[in-house]
Amino acid sequence: MKISVVGLGKAGLPLAAVIADSGLDVLGVDVDKKRVMDIENGLNPIPEETGLDKLIKKHIRKNLNVTSDPLTAAKSCNAHIVIVPLFIDDNKKPDFSVLKKAFTCIGQGLKKGDIVVLETTVPTGTTKGLNKDILEKESGFVAGIDFFLAHSPERIMTGHSISRFKEFPKIVGGINKRSGEKAAEIYRHFSNIQIVKNSTTAEMIKIAEGIYRDVNIGLANELLKVCDSIGVDFSEMRKYANHKYCNIHQAGIGVGGHCIPVYPWFIINQMDVPIIKTARIENDKMIYYWKDKISALHPKGAKIGVVGLSYRSDVKELAYTRSIPFIELLEQEGFDVYVADELFSKNEIINLGFKALEKYDQMDLIVQLHDSVKFPENKTLVIQR
Ligand SMILES: NC(=O)c1ccc[n+]([C@@H]2O[C@H](COP(=O)([O-])OP(=O)(O)OC[C@H]3O[C@@H](n4cnc5c(N)ncnc54)[C@H](O)[C@@H]3O)[C@@H](O)[C@H]2O)c1
Repeated sequence: MKISVVGLGKAGLPLAAVIADSGLDVLGVDVDKKRVMDIENGLNPIPEETGLDKLIKKHIRKNLNVTSDPLTAAKSCNAHIVIVPLFIDDNKKPDFSVLKKAFTCIGQGLKKGDIVVLETTVPTGTTKGLNKDILEKESGFVAGIDFFLAHSPERIMTGHSISRFKEFPKIVGGINKRSGEKAAEIYRHFSNIQIVKNSTTAEMIKIAEGIYRDVNIGLANELLKVCDSIGVDFSEMRKYANHKYCNIHQAGIGVGGHCIPVYPWFIINQMDVPIIKTARIENDKMIYYWKDKISALHPKGAKIGVVGLSYRSDVKELAYTRSIPFIELLEQEGFDVYVADELFSKNEIINLGFKALEKYDQMDLIVQLHDSVKFPENKTLVIQR
């Protein structure tokens, strides 16, 4: 079996490396030529990913090869795993354009007996709907009979992806029974498998995980506001309230990253579920809560240092980060804002249009969005807690 992994991003590259490490022959595909070249030369584009360096060096140009030519890859492989991004647009509607391109190429290279697995998190019904339609149209084959199609949600967390493949069962759901079984044959090589009834169930499992996190973060944010208003220390309350049956999440400036702020919209777009919608909207509004708090304590023109640009502290990723709209809001409010992030260089911060924070002692306030660095308590507002 020769497997292509389409999309060598934060999710796809660790997956390709883990499959190669299980002894299978992998061809990684990415449209980003520089990324492909770097990987081919043994360079790891995700240094924060524990263990990835070692796997790339061990397998590259052996049973892990890479290409920027999706059609040739589609023609030369008989299993195709797709893990490209799916964003939402300004109206919160999913933008399928990247996914459509990837499936069109696979369809054009498809052979009888091939298996295609989608790992990107998608609105329910996408695998047996849009993806199946594209593959059938481009290949002239019938899905579930001539070729097989399944969904297997990616459940990694950047930084810990490689260990998560072993810790978390790989959920697999086919558009028919045979498709689920064919997909499971691949994943069995490197992970525990859980075959579920169908591809829509597999899609919903991942969406539900994201919604669980978003709604619980929304609850934590609301509890933080309650605590603030009655003079209770939220962190202390949370520390002692949590036990086996109570898991109050961290409060903060909202939720970022490719995943959690995106998936609730897949459901909100389709049906009215007030708790999901309210959590999503309120989480996005947290930046205003914190801006108002800072404004109540400091006059316009005060020097504010913001620590944390990524959506979380140990990953260099700006997708849907709430830090950027928060910093822009503080600037609009008339504050003199300086920015630092342990994973971004001074030049990278300047190129994003911000002033780099270097002289911490000259700040009137340090707003700590990431919890990895400690600053003097008397000058620091810790938001992520
Ligand atoms: N990163 C995570 O922690 C994580 C966790 C769980 C699930 N996911 C899922 O994985 C998806 C991808 O996330 P990511 O973090 O890897 O994104 P990413 O932006 O890091 O990488 C995506 C890669 O796909 C490539 N690409 C785009 N179009 C392509 C095409 N037509 N053919 C081949 N390659 C193409 C891009 O060049 C890029 O390198 C997310 O949308 C989400 O559904 C990610």
